[in-house]
Amino acid sequence: MSSKSLKIAALAGDGIGPEVMREALKVLRATATKSGFTVAITEAPVGWAGIDAAGKALPDATLQLCRESDSILFGSVGLPDRDPTVPKEERPERAALLRIRKEFGLFANLRPVQLPKALSHACPLRPERQGDGLDLLVVRELTGGMYFGQPKKTEAITLPTGPAQRAIDTMVYTTPEIERIAHVAFQAAKLRRRKLTSIDKANVLENGILWRETVTRIAKEYPEVALEHMFVDNAAMQLMLKPTQFDVVLCENMFGDILSDEAAALAGSLGMLPSASLGATSSGQTFGFYEPAGGTAPDIAGKDLANPIAQILSVALMLRYSFGLEDAAKRIEQAVGKVITNGLRTGDIYSSTDPSARRVGTREMGDAIIAAL
Ligand code: IPM
Ligand code: MG
Repeated sequence: MSSKSLKIAALAGDGIGPEVMREALKVLRATATKSGFTVAITEAPVGWAGIDAAGKALPDATLQLCRESDSILFGSVGLPDRDPTVPKEERPERAALLRIRKEFGLFANLRPVQLPKALSHACPLRPERQGDGLDLLVVRELTGGMYFGQPKKTEAITLPTGPAQRAIDTMVYTTPEIERIAHVAFQAAKLRRRKLTSIDKANVLENGILWRETVTRIAKEYPEVALEHMFVDNAAMQLMLKPTQFDVVLCENMFGDILSDEAAALAGSLGMLPSASLGATSSGQTFGFYEPAGGTAPDIAGKDLANPIAQILSVALMLRYSFGLEDAAKRIEQAVGKVITNGLRTGDIYSSTDPSARRVGTREMGDAIIAAL
């Protein structure tokens, strides 16, 4: 792998996207030099930046660039204030993010949630519920379920009481869709603490019953992993009460959307959490899409306040999952760990009661991570 240049599409997007992307690309280039691989990075507009540059949230040239690249490093898209200016189908969330997920078959979304001991104060739970720090992985199905099921529409109807509207979203899963995401989750669990909690609503939904049956069947191929099933409502509660019980959490699309935000809250700040969205692996290559878990944070955009760590850790995930560069990925993760241990804090993870903490901006955080590489 190290002999050929890694072709990376960098789509910074809106809000804080450009400034955290800038730091992540600095870290990527520095890591490439240190670890001895080469990168060819091409930047392109997406989201409102795409609408402003080319009239579309996902401009044709940007999509073409993604098709020609080995993986996509993504910032974030969406500026709610501007939503009323375009129809809902053309807004960045649907026209760029969901479109890319579907277009590239990115069915497996991995969201690692870690709370290092040093950031214990940033976690909303009392210290005794945090164990030795938190470490769990949400595996979310990303191209099925209610997000994409048809029919999906809002229609005019007539009720006995008069005219009304009816909105329809369809939750639909096939066994192959459940099987392939289950394999991803079991394989991830094998490399971790070998526990998998599969989330469903089998007491109410047909989808839940099929999900549970299918995951149970796939589990036979992974005898070393302990599988348990949990209803989604209970899982939401257990994440607050006893998050240390979880290792890998497997969810369908919508439940994963919700529970991954809840789990992220435990890590103190969305600004710390990367994510990977992966497609199928073909001839040893996994096309992937890597983005921070947080959003565009328009309120702090352009002020050098944003935490670049989620974007930087997304680079580490990219090197690991798309390019098999485990050492380079670890180098970045360890550098991040070091600056946190050394007390550097952007505003979202800063606490004035911690005497060793020093508040820094986006740029200084990025520079410190590079220095620690
Ligand atoms: C996420 C986001 C997206 C989702 C939105 C922005 C469409 O919340 O990646 O979790 O719902 O999947
Ligand atoms: Mg979400």
